[in-house]
Amino acid sequence: MIYILGIESSCDDTAAAVTADDHILSSVTANQEVHRNFGGVVPELASRAHQQNIVPVIQAALHKANISKNQLAAVAFTRGPGLLGSLLVGISFAKSFSLGMNIPLIEVDHLQAHILAHFLRDETSIKPPPAFPFLCLTVSGGHTQITLVRTPYDMEVIGRTIDDAAGETFDKAAKIMGLPYPGGPMIDTFAKNGNPAAFRFSKPVIPGLDFSFSGLKTSILYFLRDRLKEDPDFMEKNKNDLCASIQSTIVDILVQKIKIAADQTGIHEIAIAGGVSANSALRQALLDAQEKHGWNVFIPRLEYSTDNAAMIAITAYFKYQKKDFADLSVAPYARSSV
Ligand code: KG4
Ligand code: ZN
Repeated sequence: MIYILGIESSCDDTAAAVTADDHILSSVTANQEVHRNFGGVVPELASRAHQQNIVPVIQAALHKANISKNQLAAVAFTRGPGLLGSLLVGISFAKSFSLGMNIPLIEVDHLQAHILAHFLRDETSIKPPPAFPFLCLTVSGGHTQITLVRTPYDMEVIGRTIDDAAGETFDKAAKIMGLPYPGGPMIDTFAKNGNPAAFRFSKPVIPGLDFSFSGLKTSILYFLRDRLKEDPDFMEKNKNDLCASIQSTIVDILVQKIKIAADQTGIHEIAIAGGVSANSALRQALLDAQEKHGWNVFIPRLEYSTDNAAMIAITAYFKYQKKDFADLSVAPYARSSV
């Protein structure tokens, strides 16, 4: 058994997990409440909270896994992309831990980790992981992309957003509606009681596999501004329908592109990853597409679709097998290197 400690600190969640080969032994996340009043993540507060959380979170992960730190084969951390101050907390801890325990240090790319989360197994795993090659739609607060995954070591981004990310669009739409941050899950909740066809918002016309969401955000803003002039209570009266309509527009844009990618590549193994893959309408739309187009769809469990450290540990497990280790000079990166 290869035991790996994974650490994730790229944004506002401090997370640690222990895996035994591809099995999850523990996965612990401390969410940061400090950002709630600011309508978004405040980088300075995030790094300070990571510093407070990191030791107890790692201790909890080791305790839950019921192994001692002497049994660990390697320690892995998120190198980027993310907030530099936040990443530094995880990296610094991982470096000292690797040095102190004399075990290899493994750097992990956050986006690759979201994709490889599909290979995590636990006692509830029934369906085998995706077969290579597969397509993965990664949709989070900072990223929206389609990746062609040939092997765990060979991934190619074949489509990406040219402006906002899908999660950012959910969050900005929620903010326009006066909902608290992060708005994505709130929209999902209100949408359950709304009519997705109540309002129409413009969809972007972007050729190929790229995405654009900035036009949709503007169209929501102007639509609401005009309606609120006519009726100041418009938002409150139509909250559920608004959420359902916005959500269905975002989901349509995402599913249309993944359909084009599937047709172009002939690949029918389709996975989703990232925080927005927790969205119930996106999950349902993919299950419908599975029926309709004969795809084999992979949807991660909720706790492994949003940021977590188990995905860092499984990615490190693949790298461990190739002896792909980092040295102590490794530095974080804010933006995607791919
Ligand atoms: O992957 P993630 O946890 O962090 C990043 O790496 O960005 O993704 C967070 C994003 C946020 O924008 C959040 O609003 C969105 O995922 N999100 C959702 C849902 N749950 C999380 N968006 C729509 N519906 C949800 N249920
Ligand atoms: Zn993420």
